[in-house]
Amino acid sequence: MNKTTGGATPFVDLASHHVEIEDELVGAFRQALRESSFIGGAAVEDFESRFAGFCGARFSSGVANGTDALKLALVASGVKPGDTVVTVANTFIATVEAISQAGALAAFVDIDEKTYNMDPAALRRYLDTACESTGGRTFDKRTKSPVTAVVPVHLYGQPAEMDAILDIADGFGLTVIEDACQAHGAKYLSRRTGRWMKAGSMGAAAAFSFYPGKNLGACGDAGAVTTNDREIIEYIKMARDHGQSRKYIHEIEGCNSRLDAIQAMILRIKLRRLSEWNEMRREAARVYDRLFRGSEKVITPAEHPDARHVYHLYVIRVRNREAHQRRLSEAGVSTGLHYPVPLHLQRACARFGYLKGDLPVTERVADEILSLPMYPGLRPSDQERIAALILGPEASGIADRLP
Ligand SMILES: Cc1ncc(COP(=O)(O)O)c(C=O)c1O
Repeated sequence: MNKTTGGATPFVDLASHHVEIEDELVGAFRQALRESSFIGGAAVEDFESRFAGFCGARFSSGVANGTDALKLALVASGVKPGDTVVTVANTFIATVEAISQAGALAAFVDIDEKTYNMDPAALRRYLDTACESTGGRTFDKRTKSPVTAVVPVHLYGQPAEMDAILDIADGFGLTVIEDACQAHGAKYLSRRTGRWMKAGSMGAAAAFSFYPGKNLGACGDAGAVTTNDREIIEYIKMARDHGQSRKYIHEIEGCNSRLDAIQAMILRIKLRRLSEWNEMRREAARVYDRLFRGSEKVITPAEHPDARHVYHLYVIRVRNREAHQRRLSEAGVSTGLHYPVPLHLQRACARFGYLKGDLPVTERVADEILSLPMYPGLRPSDQERIAALILGPEASGIADRLP
């Protein structure tokens, strides 16, 4: 399933991916038209219980998108206006928008240079040196705001180091909410529980996005929260539907963040194939790894020994990133940058008070990252062409590196 036409390689290939399941998708749409139950209902509940099961969580609530999922997860797990939530700056801005929409301030900590995920040592350093504890609570010394939650982002499809993050958070009385928007099906070997845990089952709650290009994507916007906590899910199910406990009985001031039945049906069809698609992404990642092996120019993604990466994105690091991107583009290969300007240096986040130099690893990495085409069905021959374009003279004998 590859739409490679006229030598062009797309960054993601949703069209070919949909051809494979078109009959089922059209069937779901026809069923929705006949039932004419477009908001909530059995299809949404069915998907919620299947998705919770897939993630190894007890509960799931469908919502309108991943940003709302994270905002509602934060609010439902007790984050209050004026609190501080600690996260990373190399993520999509939605992570911070959700923190702000929950009424909280974002504090940024640096990342691990190998995995690009939150560095637990940096989290501890922030809590030990930039915060003080009084009356069993932790306060940011600069803003005097109570620090109440941590949002690790499982970036590019690789789980953050959850054991260390959960241990630190426990020590400071902080809630951990996973931003799992890029990590559907990713796994982490937890020493705390002694088993592999899926993204979405480790924090107090987790947020997922089903934006079309995600590993599990809807045909429009959609998202979900997963949790093992009944109170959190009950709050979210009420909040997403204008705070109603029953029709026109509003217990809280909520919002409109419901999951459409059509999207739930589409997601259910795709969920059945998600593990297989994730395996295909892992295989494509192994092909890239082999093609770039031994190169002095390219740093390939590092899979943490305790993680099963699902390669939502395959991100390499190269010097002269713009020149590589231009050469690839001229050859019809689409690439992406995730993300070129870290959030602490974005104008939209100026109010959090960070300056260039505050997060050295994040800043260094942001200048060198390049996301290569990645989707189930990406052909090894296309990957070979992409690698040859990046490696230049280093590419001699590259075909021998393929299986
Ligand atoms: C890390 C991360 N967090 C949050 C979101 C927000 O999800 P959505 O676009 O569905 O609101 C995304 C989506 O791209 C994301 O990648």
